[in-house]
This record gives sequence, structure tokens and C-alpha cells, in this order.
Amino acid sequence: MQIKPFLTEQFFALYEFTAPHVLASSDCETTSIAELLELSGGSLEEFGEMRLGYTESQGNPEYRRLVTDMYDNVMADDVVILTSPVEGIYLTMQTLLDASDEVIALSPAYDALHHVADHLCGKMQSWDLVPTEAGWEIDFDRLESLVNSNTRLIIVNFPHNPCGYQPSPGEFEQLVEIARRNDCWLFCDEIYRGLEVEWRHEPTLPSAADVYEKAIVLHGLSKTYGLPGLRAGWLIVRDKTIREQLIGWKHYTTICPAAPTEYLSMQALTVRDQLAERSRKIVRDNLRICAEFMKRHSEFLRWRPPTVGSTALVEIDFAQLNGSQTQVFTNATDYCHDLAKKHGVLLLPAACLGCADRFVRIGLGRASFSIALAAWDATLSSNADVPEPLKSS
Ligand SMILES: Cc1ncc(COP(=O)(O)O)c(C=O)c1O
Repeated sequence: MQIKPFLTEQFFALYEFTAPHVLASSDCETTSIAELLELSGGSLEEFGEMRLGYTESQGNPEYRRLVTDMYDNVMADDVVILTSPVEGIYLTMQTLLDASDEVIALSPAYDALHHVADHLCGKMQSWDLVPTEAGWEIDFDRLESLVNSNTRLIIVNFPHNPCGYQPSPGEFEQLVEIARRNDCWLFCDEIYRGLEVEWRHEPTLPSAADVYEKAIVLHGLSKTYGLPGLRAGWLIVRDKTIREQLIGWKHYTTICPAAPTEYLSMQALTVRDQLAERSRKIVRDNLRICAEFMKRHSEFLRWRPPTVGSTALVEIDFAQLNGSQTQVFTNATDYCHDLAKKHGVLLLPAACLGCADRFVRIGLGRASFSIALAAWDATLSSNADVPEPLKSS
């Protein structure tokens, strides 16, 4: 049986490497290997001398130890180093689920979080984030109505892509309590952890790995630390039996992490605070620019400003937008394809993530944001020129 298409990847594949104005990415501004090593005090020479043999399936013990510094109750044995963050979703679902299981997944969501589980389990139910005037909310009455004795797994993602939402510590506790009371596994995708944009130093929520023994937590260096090309990620799996089964699945996917990635990831972890603070600053600056833009176009654009993460949803009122444009659009998917093809501006149709087809996702983590936003802006006012993109160094 075929798995559902990964619409986000399919859309990005069409334009990501050719569109000059990428406004849709969820990762933060990246860095070069030389810059990373300079920051961490490593040397290019040492990197050049490393041997390219196989590595340990569970990951280098020192790398796993460095990861435990990010948690309170996690041991190096609990950490499984991945060959990419997204691999962790596949391995977890393969390990936990079969056709007799029910799964509840927060929605909207990054495609893989729904589709792999949906492919494997007997019944997948969406637990929808609720839009409010001020932002987003989770509805615990709804969760209680979905959960039952067949529910094997609850899937969440905080900070949330694409909504830029995170529950309060009290709400997070309530979620863990519901999972515990129903003896469910909780898969918590924390890949945007540390991107609490208004928060300067520490994450505002505990990691699910620290507070619930049946949590499986995903994190990595792609988003908060701006290193998606490293393909560096890890899972925290405190249950030994499940962890061993999961590593068994890993033997059929990637066997072990890439040696150069392990080396550079360890370097990155020693300077993770600096990397994260750089990303938070970029997001905070871009949020201000974006808020002004949204205000100026409030007759046809609406958003709930994100409080965490590097993404936000923008709702387009096409009836209003069409009034000021020569071309008529009725949905965000057609609009985004047209914008990418004609103007080189890349917004993600949020239908890819399970939203109604009037939402687009914007990414706030890139240094080129203001120029890319100006390019979108220029397409909205017929007399402005689309600006030149930033030259990447
Ligand atoms: C919520 C979430 N989880 C996991 C991933 C996977 O990360 P990566 O593409 O670095 O494997 C992404 C990527 O966009 C994501 O948004």
C-alpha cells in the first residue's frame, strides 16, 4: 500500500533551489563549516584528518553524552543518534504501531508526523489546534473524547510548526497526565525547542523526556541551530525494550550516523547556546518586520503572531486580494505556485500541512527575510519592483 504523498517536500522540490526569494522555510539561517569550527574552537585540519569508517549504530557515546546536557533526567544510553531528524519519526512509528492501534495526532502538522503513523495504524484521529482571536489553543475536552483503551500513541509537536504555538507549562502537564492515565506513548517532536522567541535563555517547557517515562522525544540541529544540511538529529527513548527494537529498525534504514556529521554535530553542541541565540535574534527581528507588513495588508492578510518557533500561518482573504490584483485566485495552492513561477517568491501552501487552502506558511528564521518579504510585498502593489535577492556567502 502506498503512503500518502509528502506534499511539503514535493512543493519545495519544485522551487526551493531556484526561487530567489524563499519565504517559506522552517529552518533558521545556516553557517559554513569553517564558521562553525571557528566558533567551537575546532580545526578544519582535524576535521580533514577524520577517518570515514562506519560509526556506532546508537551513535558516538561522547555525542550522546553531549545531548544529555540538554535534559535533566536523560542518560547517554537513552539517546539514539539519527541520520536525519525525520528518520526518527519513521523509526518510532515502525517500532510502536501496528494495525490494531489507534493514534491521536495534533493537527495541523508536519506531513511525516501524520502520514507514517496513519500508514501503519488502524485508526488515526486528528486533534485540531483551535484558532482564537489572540492565537491558538488546545482543547483537552476534545482529547479526552478521542482517547480510549486502544490509543497507543499521542503525537504532538512543540514549539509547533506551522502555528508557532506552545502550551503553557500547566497545559503541558495536563497533556502528560492524560497520556499517563491512559497508558499511552507520547511522541513529542521538539525539533524547534529553544526557539522560544520572547524567551532569552532557557526553553519555557520541560522536555517531555524529562517528565514522562513513556515519552519519545525528537530533537536535532536543523531548525533552532540552523544546521539542516548536517542531517543531525536524535531520539530520547528511555524504555530499553522499545529503544532496542527501534535500533533494530535503524539497521534496516541507515545502520549508523554519518561520521562527518557526528564530528560536526559534537562541535555544534559545544556552542549550541550561541547558535540558538543567533537564530532567536533573527526570528525576533523578522517578527517585527513581519508585524508591520501584516498590519499594512490587513485588508486581505491575517495572522496569529507566533510566540515560539520559526514559522507562522498567514490567512489570505482571496475575495479582498483579488480586488487589487489583475489575476484572480481562489486558493492558496494556486496562488503559491503562481508566486513562485512568476515572481520567484516562495510561500508554502499550508494545505500541505493539513490546513484549509487559504493559509500559507511563512518562515521567520532566515537573514534574507526582509528582502524576500519586500519581494512578496512588491507583487501586492502593482507599481513596485521585485527586489534583488541577497547574495549568499
Ligand atoms: C516538526 C518537524 N519535525 C521534523 C522535521 C524534520 O527535520 P529534518 O528535515 O531536518 O529531517 C521537520 C522539518 O521541517 C519539522 O518541521
